[in-house]
Amino acid sequence: MSALAQTHGALNLAQGFPGFAPSPEIQAGLHEACERGMFQYAPMPGYLPLREDIARQLEHRYDFCASPQEEITITAGGTQALYTAFTTIVQPGDRVAYFEPAYDSYHPAICLNGGIPVPIQLQGEGFEIPWNELEAELSIGLKAIVINSPHNPSGSILSSEDLRQLGELIQSTGTFVISDEVYEHIVFDGDIHFSVLQDPVLKHRSIVVSSFGKTYHATGFKLGYAVAGAGIMKEFRKIHQYQVFAVHSASQYTFHRMMQNPEHHEQLGAFYQGLRDVFRAGLQGSSWGLMPCRGTYFQLLKVPKRLQGYGDLEAAEWLCQEKGIALIPMSPFYADGRNTGLLRACFAKPVEILEEATALLRNIP
Ligand SMILES: Cc1ncc(COP(=O)(O)O)c(C=O)c1O
Repeated sequence: MSALAQTHGALNLAQGFPGFAPSPEIQAGLHEACERGMFQYAPMPGYLPLREDIARQLEHRYDFCASPQEEITITAGGTQALYTAFTTIVQPGDRVAYFEPAYDSYHPAICLNGGIPVPIQLQGEGFEIPWNELEAELSIGLKAIVINSPHNPSGSILSSEDLRQLGELIQSTGTFVISDEVYEHIVFDGDIHFSVLQDPVLKHRSIVVSSFGKTYHATGFKLGYAVAGAGIMKEFRKIHQYQVFAVHSASQYTFHRMMQNPEHHEQLGAFYQGLRDVFRAGLQGSSWGLMPCRGTYFQLLKVPKRLQGYGDLEAAEWLCQEKGIALIPMSPFYADGRNTGLLRACFAKPVEILEEATALLRNIP
C-alpha cells in the first residue's frame, strides 16, 4: 500500500511508522557514539550498559529481575528477536499457535523453521482469546503460543487475568510462549500493559520481544531486544550469533543514552492517546465506524456501507487511487485472506496530517 500511495501521491496512513522526527537527543547520541569511536563490533549479546538499562526498566515496570549478562540480548529490531525466538523453540513438525488477525511475520517464521502454523481467530470487537479453542489445540499439542499485546492491528490489550488464564492452561504442558510486546509503552485511558514477565508461570516459559524503534520514533534504527530465562536465552544466543553476531554499536549507545531519561517512554501513551483522539474525533458522525483502540498507534475502521460490496483490499485500493488516502486492508492479517470489512489506519502522524486524512475520509458518503 505504501508503494501504491507513492504512485498516486496519496496520504499514507498505511505503513506503521511514526511520521515525525524523533527527539534531537537521538541525533546527539549517535553523534556522541561516533565521537567516542564506536565503529567496531559490539559484544555478541549487546552493549552491556544498554542491557543494564533494560534490566533496571524491567525491574521498575514489571518487578522482574533479569540478569543483563545472561537473560537480555540486543537484536536487529523486534523482527529479528521474533525470528530468532522461533528458531530457538520450533523444530520441524512442531505446532505453533498464534492469534489472528496477526502481525505478518509470525506465520512465515513458523513455516521457515519447519513448524506447523495453528491460527486461532480472536473474537468480537474486543479481539478476545477464544479459550476453548486454545485449550482444544493444546490438547493436541503445541510447542509454542505467540501472543501480542498491545495488539497490531486491532489495538486490543491482554489483561492480567488473560495472562493468568494462559499460564494456568500451559502450566502442566511443555508449551513455550513468544510474547511480542513491542508496543508495551503505548496504552491509553489509564489502562496498564501487563507483561508475561509479571506472571509467575509465564515468566519462566517465555521469550519477550520489544523494540526501540517503536518507543523512540526511530523504526529505521532497527534495534530491539529479547528477554528470557538464562536457559532459553543461552539457546537463543546460539542462533543470534550466527544470524547477525552483533548489532549496530552506535545505535546501541544512542538508546543507552536515551534510557537515562525515562520521561520519553513514560509519556508515550499520553502522546499517542492525543493523536488517537484527534483522529477519532475527526471521524465522529462520518460514514466510518470506529473499532475500540486501547493501545498501539493503529485504529481499525469499518468501511462505509457504500464500500461494503468490495473486498477490503479493493476498498483500500480504491481509496488510495481515487480518494488519495492509503490505509491497510485487514485481510492480509489472516492466513486465509478473508474479507473483514475493516481497514487499519496508522495515526502516528502529525496533527495536520491526521486532520487532512479525516477530511478526505469524511468525504466518502
Ligand atoms: C506487532 C509487531 N511486532 C514486531 C514488529 C517489528 O518491530 P521492529 O520494527 O523493531 O523490527 C512490528 C513492527 O511493525 C509490529 O507491529
